[in-house]
Amino acid sequence: MAGKLMHALQYDSYGGGAAGLKHVEVPVPSAKKDEVLLKLEATSLNPYDFRIQKGVVRPFLPRSFPYIPGLDIAGEVVAVGPGVEDFKTGDKVVAVLSGSSGGGLAEFAVAKKSLSVARPPEVSAAEAAGLPIAGLAAYEALTQCAGVKLDGSGIQKNILITAASGGVGHYAVQLAKLGNTYVTATCGARNIEFVKDLGADEVLDYKTPEGAALKSPSGKKYDAVIHCALGIPWSTFEPNLSENGKVIHLSPGPSAMITFAVKKLTFSKKQLMPLIITPKGENLKCLVNLVKEGKLKTVIDSKHPLSKAEDAWAKGIDGHATGKIIVEP
Ligand SMILES: NC(=O)c1ccc[n+]([C@@H]2O[C@H](COP(=O)([O-])OP(=O)(O)OC[C@H]3O[C@@H](n4cnc5c(N)ncnc54)[C@H](OP(=O)(O)O)[C@@H]3O)[C@@H](O)[C@H]2O)c1
Repeated sequence: MAGKLMHALQYDSYGGGAAGLKHVEVPVPSAKKDEVLLKLEATSLNPYDFRIQKGVVRPFLPRSFPYIPGLDIAGEVVAVGPGVEDFKTGDKVVAVLSGSSGGGLAEFAVAKKSLSVARPPEVSAAEAAGLPIAGLAAYEALTQCAGVKLDGSGIQKNILITAASGGVGHYAVQLAKLGNTYVTATCGARNIEFVKDLGADEVLDYKTPEGAALKSPSGKKYDAVIHCALGIPWSTFEPNLSENGKVIHLSPGPSAMITFAVKKLTFSKKQLMPLIITPKGENLKCLVNLVKEGKLKTVIDSKHPLSKAEDAWAKGIDGHATGKIIVEP
């Protein structure tokens, strides 16, 4: 691949949204120690990609410009670096790319072997590409923060999932229902039947007064909230939580961090837990297996060719996807 060029989308400054993405021809990267070089089969976009472009995580990401965005990838191994024994040329994998290098919106990308997982033929590339960031966030929030056991064991828990129609939320509803849970979910009116079909026991339209108040129609108090929406204050959650209820906050801003600190320092039984995922290959493997077994599905909002990836980007920034937005070569 040395010297070969590939098609990619990149940006060279903060901001700019979809218009800030440029189609370019750049050299194919090479796999270094413990890395695999993947030929893109599908990639999916996440709100985190848009935040990186906005400069929300500067100066950490991007480390430098120009930057090829995109962290979720399903691809075929076309080369392996030194130290890679588990994968060989021709293997199909799904991987989380490193935030510092990005690389999803390109014909080829380099992934760490530790964050790459074999993709069985029963799982399509598009389904697999939806899983990494969104699926891992739902998985970590439920299993590690909320203590839900996906084998159905464990005491019953009442779980609220906000923005249940989105990328994280639609996985969270399905994963929560593998455990011993009663799930209340919020979404827009157009997605109520969709979220019920995913398995939610009761669904609230977030634009109604009851939905905005997060009140369970059956009067449940929540043991854990998987909070995927934005802009809901602690005062709205607090009266709806059980005695030891937790809000697992996926997009904690300054006010959520203050609530987190206050609740910790005052030994409050009700807690806010900010969550930033730590991607792990073993968790991704578990998600891939669940899709293979038919216990989890990726709902695809829309598919876009790499040649029109800016349309996918604009749709993602809009914030109204139902499931995952996928880009294919
Ligand atoms: N901390 C982490 O490590 C981590 C990892 C992954 C994701 N996240 C964060 O988690 C959040 C969710 O990500 P995502 O990929 O699921 O986003 P997404 O797919 O863009 O979510 C879009 C969906 O959210 C719904 N929605 C928006 N506001 C809502 C509200 N107030 N109540 C109920 N539903 C609402 C929309 O419904 P309508 O179209 O009907 O409005 C739409 O279906 C993002 O903020 C993301 O940055 C964090």
